[in-house]
This record gives sequence, C-alpha cells and structure tokens, in this order.
Amino acid sequence: MDNPSKDSARPQIVVLGTGGTIAGTATGDPSQPGYIAGVLRVDDLLQGIPALSRLARIHTEQVANLDSKDMDFSVWTHLAERVAHWLAQPHIAACVISHGTDTLEETAYFLQLVHRTNKPVVLTAAMRPATALDADGPQNLLDAVRVAVKPQALGLGAVCVLHGRVHAARDVTKASTHRMDAFTSGERGPLGEIDGDSLRLWRQPATEPGAPFAIPPAEAWPRVEIVLNHAGADGTLVRCLVANPALQPPLRGLVVAGTGGGTVHQRMQAALQWAEQQGVRVDIASRIGPLRGGAEDGLNAVKLRVRQLLELASHEDTQGRSRFP
Ligand code: SIN
Repeated sequence: MDNPSKDSARPQIVVLGTGGTIAGTATGDPSQPGYIAGVLRVDDLLQGIPALSRLARIHTEQVANLDSKDMDFSVWTHLAERVAHWLAQPHIAACVISHGTDTLEETAYFLQLVHRTNKPVVLTAAMRPATALDADGPQNLLDAVRVAVKPQALGLGAVCVLHGRVHAARDVTKASTHRMDAFTSGERGPLGEIDGDSLRLWRQPATEPGAPFAIPPAEAWPRVEIVLNHAGADGTLVRCLVANPALQPPLRGLVVAGTGGGTVHQRMQAALQWAEQQGVRVDIASRIGPLRGGAEDGLNAVKLRVRQLLELASHEDTQGRSRFP
C-alpha cells in the first residue's frame, strides 16, 4: 500500500491511452500481419512498469484505442478536450499520451497549437508491439513520465519522447518504417535527451504564431486536402477537388507538397491560382520536409495542414493572401 507522506511528495500525472503499436499484440496467425495495433488498454501497459510508481502518482484514461492511421477529427477534439480538462486541475502536473507512431507528429503538433498552460504534454509511442520480446514501449513510457515530472519540462508545450530523445512537436517526423530510433527532428535536431533520470535540454521549442488556437468542435473541422507535386502534375486533382459540389464539408484549403524548394509544375500552379480565385486557401510545403523561411514555411505538409485547419476553423485565415504573388 502507498505511504501517504510519500504520496504527497510525488507529482500527479495523467496517462491518456489512444492505441498504436505500443498497445499492440501479436496475432500469432501467420495469415495476418505480425500484430494488431491498439489492443491493450493503457492500464495494462503501465502495469508492466513498476518503476513508474516511484516517480509519480499516475491517473489513467482511455481516450481511444486505434491504429493511428485511423486518427480523425473527433478523436483529436476529444483528446484535446481531455488534456485541457486534466491540465486545468491544480494537482495535475502533466499529461502523457501513448499513441501510434504513424500520425504521432500530426497529433503532437495539433496539441501544441491548442495548448494553453505551461504544463507539459508528453507523447510517446513504440515501434514494437507490447508482446514483442524487445518491446520498446515500456522504456519509452517510463522516459515520457520522467520528462513529464521534470521542472525543466515546464513551458516546453507538446513534446514527443522516443528512444531517449525529446523532440519538439513542430520538428519531429517519423523517418523509418523499422528502426527503433525511427523519429528525427531533421536539421533542427531534438530539444534534448533523457538518459536515466537526467533530462538534458539543448534548446527551447520555437514559438507558434497565432497559438493557442481554439479546439474545434468535432463537427466544425473544415476540409483541407494535401496534393503532391510530381513530374507531369497538371493540376487535374486540384480542379476536381475545387469543382466537386458533392464534397461535405466543402473544400476550404489545400496544402501542396511541392518540390524540395516548394515549387510546383506550371500547370499545377495555374490550377492552384484558379483554386485561390474560387476562395480556396492554398499553402505550399515541400515534399522533402520543412522549407526554410517563416514560421509557417518551417512545417512539413501534414503539419502545415494541421495549422491551416486550425486557422480556418478559428476564422483566422489571411483573407485575400495569394501564395503566388
Ligand atoms: C500506429 O501508428 O498506430 C501503428 C504503427 C505504430 O504505432 O508504430
């Protein structure tokens, strides 16, 4: 049984489960892929990590249990509302979120943009399912809680803790389908590292212009699609999206993953200029990662879409601004 004096000394943390490989189990069926993501509940995951109870008093909540390829706006809204609810409680020091690796960077950046307190939100994930002999989930969860309880983590916003590294939500991206250190923060590099009980921070995250944004109600998210520039891209897809009266909700924005430098095929460009004339907002990213430049340009295409979604939902779109001056 817990010693009450020890209890009051330990910070209180909430771990929110959303699924992913970290909560995955092997199928044992040779006709199936090796495992199914999002099976175990967050309580099951924590039970296998006794060291956690020395660090913090842990509360848990199962927000979803899915393969993060299926992440959607209703889960995002619910997750952000639960994070805001818990962090508004004076006795809660931080939230930790277990998630799938595939859309981790999108959820992390969404939470970064709607985050309103200086308490940390620490996301983690795993490349191996919970039933693997060399599962990386328990260590990543332990590291995530270690980061979450550190006073140095105050003010960092939403960060991802994976394979001993602490990544800013703005910068982190999944870069390997199989390596255990599957995540990178590109040329900016991680914010720091967690090594045993030591958190070493090398830099602070960038500030986010316009943030915090309101959390959109589940039914109020606008439609923003991503189109890819490539050899022979003639803009047909753009024209089909803009001219389709059946789209519900209708198209409000496009993010284009352009070439390395963010340029697009001249026929794609003509289609995008036409889209802008029809009232569709167009933002340009690069298909190889963040473009150099201003705050919005330092985002890859999926994160630029998250920002555009929140700006459009908050009516903070820059009216009449053309991406093709
Ligand atoms: C997922 O993203 O939910 C499945 C893949 C993973 O977590 O590695």
